[in-house]
Amino acid sequence: MKKMLVVYYSWARGNTRRIAEKRAAAADADLERIETVTPYQGSYDDVVAQGQQEVESGFMPAIRPLSADLSGYDVIAVGTPTWWFTMAPAVHTFLHGQNWQGKTVIPFMTNGGWPGHVIRDMEKECAGAVFPLSLQVRFDSGGGDRMVTPEPLVDAFTDDVVRLLKEE
Ligand SMILES: Cc1cc2nc3c(=O)[nH]c(=O)nc-3n(C[C@H](O)[C@H](O)[C@H](O)COP(=O)(O)O)c2cc1C
Repeated sequence: MKKMLVVYYSWARGNTRRIAEKRAAAADADLERIETVTPYQGSYDDVVAQGQQEVESGFMPAIRPLSADLSGYDVIAVGTPTWWFTMAPAVHTFLHGQNWQGKTVIPFMTNGGWPGHVIRDMEKECAGAVFPLSLQVRFDSGGGDRMVTPEPLVDAFTDDVVRLLKEE
């Protein structure tokens, strides 16, 4: 069985955290959370506005070091909420700071109905990696925590991940 690490960032409602936790548990994977050194402050709308500026300028905030050593894993799943049609800036920092050559990466994301080009952007940041699977999970458009994507679709993705980990 291949070893998987699930790395995720989650800010607003814990949506991406819940998806990451369930997938990690089902696949017996290790789990790591990305956190910015400086926490986002203010109201949801303040952070939406700050996020727009950060995404548009390509800003990559400092993040806390992860405790896991990525070299010890065969597969790395990376989860992000959608921020302005792309990955959250903290995930941009994480992906940008690694050597992905020869790695197997499974990008997954949550969104509120405007998924943009998150997965494509994540894959671009992981030069040299292979991407056998990816997942987009839609939540409600009000920025809440009601999952719109049917649960069986998300479960089928998990089954695919487990199958991949069992492959020789
Ligand atoms: C700064 C910011 C920007 C967002 N931009 C988008 C977007 O472009 N498209 C979209 O569908 N949802 C957008 N959302 C909604 C989140 O992607 C969605 O609610 C997500 O599930 C939140 O995940 P989390 O609870 O793990 O942080 C945005 C939310 C924030 C805070």
